[in-house]
Amino acid sequence: MKVIGIETTCDETAVAVVEENLGAACGHILSNEVLSQIAQHAAYGGVVPEVAARAHIEALDRLIIRSLTQANLDIQDIDAIAAAGGPGLIGGVIIGVTAAKAIALATNKPFIAVNHLEAHALTARLIEEIDFPFMALLLSGGHTQLVAVKAIGNYQRIGSTVDDAAGEAFDKVAKMLGLPYPGGPEIQTLAREGDPQRFDFPRPMIGRQGADFSFSGLKTAVRLEIMKLGNLSQTDKKDLAASFEAAMVDIIVDRVRNGIRLFNEMEGRANGLVIGGGVAANTAIRRALTRLCAEVGMRFIMPPSQLCSDNGAIIAWAGLERLRLGLINDLDFAPKPRWPLDANYSVLHHGKA
Ligand code: KG4
Ligand code: ZN
Repeated sequence: MKVIGIETTCDETAVAVVEENLGAACGHILSNEVLSQIAQHAAYGGVVPEVAARAHIEALDRLIIRSLTQANLDIQDIDAIAAAGGPGLIGGVIIGVTAAKAIALATNKPFIAVNHLEAHALTARLIEEIDFPFMALLLSGGHTQLVAVKAIGNYQRIGSTVDDAAGEAFDKVAKMLGLPYPGGPEIQTLAREGDPQRFDFPRPMIGRQGADFSFSGLKTAVRLEIMKLGNLSQTDKKDLAASFEAAMVDIIVDRVRNGIRLFNEMEGRANGLVIGGGVAANTAIRRALTRLCAEVGMRFIMPPSQLCSDNGAIIAWAGLERLRLGLINDLDFAPKPRWPLDANYSVLHHGKA
């Protein structure tokens, strides 16, 4: 079984082909083409939806052909066409979904609309053999949530951010330090040479019940410290980055520790924890979560950073998981700017979708 996956929800245009790994319960990536639009957005200090949509249109056809060529396949060899159907910037989502539907119609093959967050969560099963239930921690520029993954299509949020997404916090602090967008990797590089103990920044939510995240108080504390320091030396910048990153790590570890406890109370033992989203590429966060999982005796699934950030392989894989269960979509599927993994969460909690 082979599925092509299209990702256009944010600022990466990406197409991949994934097949079932015969004899193993995980997948095999035959091609994974990613075109980042960072250069087009950098001048604006963030992603501009209209610029993103235009760039997706320009690149998508070419990437679909390149992905098939790389996999050494013809479109007729593919069993289904999957696209991220949301959540995301609606202009981009419409482009990816429309392209997938058009191919499905022309080739008479099934179309599958994949929830982008579901795709990050199911990456665990693309790279390793793992049964449900497990936990997924999604940390990106737009989302921060801890999810119980119970079965395909059965997800329950255990915790969410009440303000900024983790990547947003990295990007905003980077901007304050005069670093280019995206700020996460820049902060990581600076932090490596800084003193994480020089500034004792607050760690919102730590010690509180539940597994919700909050980063905005930390961001404000960094802003106030920068104003107090006035002209920043390179050492100040490195220490600010290191102290901020250390606080982010502490918040995330505390929240995930609580989340694991909550999961165990709800579901019994989770079979593992998988991370996804661009921020999951952060080495300090990866190291800290590796330690936490070792401490609580939980398997930790850490996809390579190119499978943590947005890409087509995770969309194709989620499509393949759905295809195996016969979960295909009609061509009247409407692209969704918002698409919570569990519809009830927003009602039960305060969280954003
Ligand atoms: O998942 P992603 O590629 O795009 C979406 O937001 O959907 O995530 C991008 C985010 C940006 O906020 C970026 O600054 C952050 O991930 N990021 C990092 C690192 N690499 C990317 N944050 C911290 N450390 C990193 N190494
Ligand atoms: Zn993503």
